[in-house]
Amino acid sequence: MKNRIKKARIVMEALPYIMRFHGKVIVIKYGGAAMTDPALENSVMRDAVLLKYVGMNPVIVHGGGPEINRALKKKKLETRFVKGLRVTDRATMEVVARVLGDKINKKIASLIKKNGGRARGFAGLRGRIIKAHKLVPLNDQGIKIDLGYTGTVTGVRNRDLKKCMEKGYIPVLAPIGVGAGGRLYNINADQAAAAVASHLDAAKLILLTDVQGVLDAHGKLISNINTVKARRMIKSGQLSGGMIPKVRNSLAALRKGVEQVHIIDGRIPHAILLEIFTDKGIGTLVERR
Ligand SMILES: Nc1ncnc2c1ncn2[C@@H]1O[C@H](COP(=O)(O)OP(=O)(O)OP(=O)(O)O)[C@@H](O)[C@H]1O
Ligand SMILES: [Mg+2]
Repeated sequence: MKNRIKKARIVMEALPYIMRFHGKVIVIKYGGAAMTDPALENSVMRDAVLLKYVGMNPVIVHGGGPEINRALKKKKLETRFVKGLRVTDRATMEVVARVLGDKINKKIASLIKKNGGRARGFAGLRGRIIKAHKLVPLNDQGIKIDLGYTGTVTGVRNRDLKKCMEKGYIPVLAPIGVGAGGRLYNINADQAAAAVASHLDAAKLILLTDVQGVLDAHGKLISNINTVKARRMIKSGQLSGGMIPKVRNSLAALRKGVEQVHIIDGRIPHAILLEIFTDKGIGTLVERR
């Protein structure tokens, strides 16, 4: 009996969080790096289904870096990154569209359905949710860098997303944008997730990755990071690769009104539930200042 009462108490502990996030949008970015194990992928989607059934509005934006790299290797195409962003030529874009837009997007939607939820997949021309144009960043000398079909988000069709959520679906978005003339752009998935979160006025943006969170030079978890700290870490080389767009876009989401951003370890079972239903957050909380 004691054990059963304890179980009831645990369920009751979720009530304040269910009330707080009822009807709110929670954008979950599931990075390719954390997609390591099918059982874990399944449990991430099961968590999302639970959120939906207790009245929250989860939206999944997925990555797929490692799987894209494997597909490119098979085709003997070179992979190059500039400051964590993939250089995307035409052949690479075709692979990105196939792996992200087709394979991974459909796999995630079907996992949600398998777990009793309703899902709708969007990818590039399928839904045209993310609008984009070519991204032309500057290098340290202020000279334009050509990243090919790597794009940046110019808009999000949030009316379609809202309609989809109201009908009881969990939207699943691949980070592929559509530009003028229906041209497809490869978007960093963290940027896509941050843009979707800010357009939907999300209460939370949760970035699931394959590390505990943002780590310092000794590999120790940093529980809070803000603009100043992030800038310092990028400059000193402590933040590199995919962590740079992750932190940068987290800060951008906060500036555009997303209430909370967390970078957490997607390899921990039920990381999403731990983040939402307990006070003690896991991973790194990103703060504006
Ligand atoms: N200071 C840091 N703390 C934590 N991770 C860091 C740091 N600097 C660089 N990284 C790297 O960033 C990686 C996470 O970004 P990455 O883009 O590889 O994965 P993802 O965004 O989760 O997946 P995807 O790109 O497929 O969506 C980590 O695996 C780690 O190697
Ligand atoms: Mg990444």
